[in-house]
Amino acid sequence: MFREYALDCFEREIRTALLAQEVQPEEISFSAPPADIAADLGLPCFLLARRLRRPPATIAADLAAQLDFGPDRLVGEVSAHGPYLNFCLNPAVLAERVLRQVLDSGSAYGGDTVGQEHYVILDYSSPNVARRMHVGHMRSTVIGQAIRNLYDFRGYRTIGDNHLGDWGTQFGKLIYAYKAWGDEEAMADDPLEHLIEIYARFHEEAKENPGLEQAGRRWFLRLEEGDPEARRLWQWFIELTIQEFEKTYRRMGVHFDTYHGESFYEPMLDDIIQEAVDKGVAEKKPDSPAVVLDLSEYGIPSTLLRKSDGATLYLTREFATLLWRQQEYDPALILYIVGEEQTLHFRQLLKAMELMGYEELTRRCVHISFGRIVKPDGSRFSMREGDVIFLRDLLDEAELRARRIVEEKNPDLTEEEKAEIARQVGIGALLYNDLYQDRNRDITFDWDQMLSFEGNTAPYIQYMHTRCASVLRKAGGRPESFQAGLLQEEQEQALIKDLARFPEAVRKAAEQYAPHVVAEWLYETARDFGRFWRDISILNAPAGVREARLGLAAAVAQGLRNGLGLLGIEAPRKM
Ligand code: ARG
Repeated sequence: MFREYALDCFEREIRTALLAQEVQPEEISFSAPPADIAADLGLPCFLLARRLRRPPATIAADLAAQLDFGPDRLVGEVSAHGPYLNFCLNPAVLAERVLRQVLDSGSAYGGDTVGQEHYVILDYSSPNVARRMHVGHMRSTVIGQAIRNLYDFRGYRTIGDNHLGDWGTQFGKLIYAYKAWGDEEAMADDPLEHLIEIYARFHEEAKENPGLEQAGRRWFLRLEEGDPEARRLWQWFIELTIQEFEKTYRRMGVHFDTYHGESFYEPMLDDIIQEAVDKGVAEKKPDSPAVVLDLSEYGIPSTLLRKSDGATLYLTREFATLLWRQQEYDPALILYIVGEEQTLHFRQLLKAMELMGYEELTRRCVHISFGRIVKPDGSRFSMREGDVIFLRDLLDEAELRARRIVEEKNPDLTEEEKAEIARQVGIGALLYNDLYQDRNRDITFDWDQMLSFEGNTAPYIQYMHTRCASVLRKAGGRPESFQAGLLQEEQEQALIKDLARFPEAVRKAAEQYAPHVVAEWLYETARDFGRFWRDISILNAPAGVREARLGLAAAVAQGLRNGLGLLGIEAPRKM
């Protein structure tokens, strides 16, 4: 079950006509004609030639002569070019269909129902409790949300799960620190700041006083054993941290359904370790609680599921997480949007789970990794204490810089408008910078580049959207009806084909976990709109053509909004 868009229909009609000519289904494999051939789809005739024992060029010529689609069909001219049979779209029919589809479907244009409400779990952002999110959390958060938007749009039921780092001895230390130096007023004022401060103080003082480490560990033990005071404090720290994270997420258009941190899986760990041992995948050391996971046979370094002091690990919790998700949702896909440095971790998880008999489940898991963020000079961001750039501050700076630009370009806007536009442009620029290239590439963090109104940037695309909006405003809105067949200029045709290709870009971006495919579509469409805007008059065009051009502008605006929306970026109407 999927929505059929204009280009799908074009292919389907060609396929049906070919099958009626006794072409076999396996002989139909289309290719895109080379740029110098004015056609939209090509059929290489080599397979047919082999079966019919005739030269491919003769077959192409014969088929071209036999196939006739008539004047009102989506398939226009059919011609032979050497061994290729080429098909052109009928421009007038395409224009009618596409513009009607875009304007009728509105914000749903490009979406689909293929997902059939199957669950897709996306595990992204996932920072640690009682820390601030910093520049290092940016990519997982932004890419994860974009992929999630794509899956939502294609009819899946997505679950954004924030796998918070909320377990480990550090929480014992934090409880100790709070009990020793916690200040209620400071907690009311800026809780996260205060927690970070007292945690740092713990480490400072532990240098002088080694007994503190012990005390911290004891508090963690109490936490593990369910001591009410320890639980209450720890729970409170988590809540405060989530509240703080959510402020940042909201600004970035990021949303989670569940915050099942690592601790959530704590009660399930004994069982999973036992299962791994019973199935002969892991081995318990004699005379020690340690459980070893030996994967060296598969070229994967060995690791532990339980340490000799009895403690479990991040990896152990990952096993339980995977099983729980399977039981709770039976998802079609589980996507882990996590940095490259955890590749080994996921290989260990998936290999071991496969050996435990969960092969079918592991095939539905994908580790989606990504490149790093580097400064314009190619150097890395420092993660040393004191120099770290916090995500919150990054968002503030993006808005501030965008504000200056808006001020300069459009001083007549009201203060309120300026603030709103600066927010949309600043945050948009930041998100787009993370999404416009293949995610595996490193991205450069360069304010001037990402905020530029020229080139492949969010502000450029947003700006083209405001032009659509402004011409429609001047015309008093989009025309009730218009004749799209009048749009025959090359610049107009290019935009119609862009709009026709949008659903395919969405499909590809989702299937390949590649939001940049949508970004590329946005940039090409924005550029084509720039050409149209420069070369073609809209408001002064003759009656009929004027309405059709306004209809086109409205459809382009819708397409740009939908594409930007998938990337989590807003589309202002004025800038
Ligand atoms: N909290 C982890 C970290 O900060 C990331 C967790 C990613 N998700 C997962 N299922 N392992 O590195």
